[in-house]
Amino acid sequence: MNADLVVVGAGLFGLTVAQQAAERAGARVEIIDIRPHIGGNAYSRMDEETGAEIHQYGAHLFHTSNERVWEYVNRFTSFTDYVHRVYSTHAGEVFPLPVNLGTINQFFRAHYTPKEAQALIAEQAGELAGVEAKNLNDKGIQLVGRPLYEAFFKYYTGKQWQTDPADLPASIINRLPVRFNYDNRYFKDKYEGLPTDGYTAWMERMIDDPKIHVTLGVDFFDESQPLNKAAIVGKVPVIYTGPVDRYFDYALGELKWRTVDFEEVRYEEGDHYGCPVMNYPDADVPYTRAIEFKNFNPERREQQNPDKTVVWREYSRSAGRDDEPYYPVNTQGDRDLYQQYKQLEAEEPGVIFGGRLGTYAYYDMHQVINSALTAYDKRIHPLLAK
Ligand code: FDA
Repeated sequence: MNADLVVVGAGLFGLTVAQQAAERAGARVEIIDIRPHIGGNAYSRMDEETGAEIHQYGAHLFHTSNERVWEYVNRFTSFTDYVHRVYSTHAGEVFPLPVNLGTINQFFRAHYTPKEAQALIAEQAGELAGVEAKNLNDKGIQLVGRPLYEAFFKYYTGKQWQTDPADLPASIINRLPVRFNYDNRYFKDKYEGLPTDGYTAWMERMIDDPKIHVTLGVDFFDESQPLNKAAIVGKVPVIYTGPVDRYFDYALGELKWRTVDFEEVRYEEGDHYGCPVMNYPDADVPYTRAIEFKNFNPERREQQNPDKTVVWREYSRSAGRDDEPYYPVNTQGDRDLYQQYKQLEAEEPGVIFGGRLGTYAYYDMHQVINSALTAYDKRIHPLLAK
């Protein structure tokens, strides 16, 4: 093996570390990924029929207020001026999200000022004032009042967890977003946009370096391939971004995740929703939301098919071992288990666990890039520069 560093996982954590190692330490880097493509969950591909860029593992919107991350990502891609906005179909009507003064006035057929709306919501939330929230329903009512909670949050959250909200713990929410102005911009970050040539082109440029070599379709735990765990750990520094419990062969038990199933629907029309994301918060629609990918890139209209569009409906459920792990369930039991796995990590010479799967955490892209840059500075560069 001629590598100075092996990176397991070609997601944004692994790619950032590989790029930094090659550039700053002149290291020869081998990246492996079990999937047939780079990019991890941020991977996207073009749909020939419609000209839509499909985000294969769910909608990905880039946003950050972190100057270092923004400067770093702009080395590999420019960004469109896309601004994320979401709509919600409730009881046969479309409302803007996050819940804002426009949503409130449409919902109550009113023309409240910010102050009046705030007073109304406070009064409605007062229904359960001073009562200990027994479940999600109680907590939701205490936060935004019964009418808005039941319309926009109750069944949506129930569908996300595949559980009756009366049986969900109050602790899964601390706040529900409500704005008392007409701002329906989803993110509040300083920078926001989508990579001009798509996610995959961005990430390919990150590793466009002769010192970086990528092998796809390879499992780190498959001993029939050369860069496997038994063969390399202890011999070369390893960055591991797969599931931490899998690394230890689930010795202490499994960390729980939720996954999302996607149902594809194609329409013989140029634009089905008029927006990229439509939420469905009502109980009688089984999916949580629908993504119309073409509408993420209105600047590409000329290249898109004017008569066809593609939509993915999302269904949330608990993940089994063979499903894609998307969102950590993160109960106290999970958090305790993860801490136990972290203790085992200390016994692994030269292996650095990173990324969302390696640290059992939900990260947005800018957060995972930031954590990779920091891990590189503090822990990886010193190993390579020896
Ligand atoms: P990631 O999962 O991307 O990469 C890990 C890689 O390791 C994978 O490619 C996997 O195949 C590989 N691997 C695992 N086991 C292996 C093994 N045994 N052998 C070899 N390879 C192995 N963020 C954001 O900023 N805006 C957004 O809108 C969204 N939207 C969004 C939607 C959904 C549904 C999800 C689940 C996530 C988002 N995100 C997001 C978060 C974003 O996806 C996330 O920040 C990055 O993908 C994390 O990159 P990582 O490198 O940590 O993991």
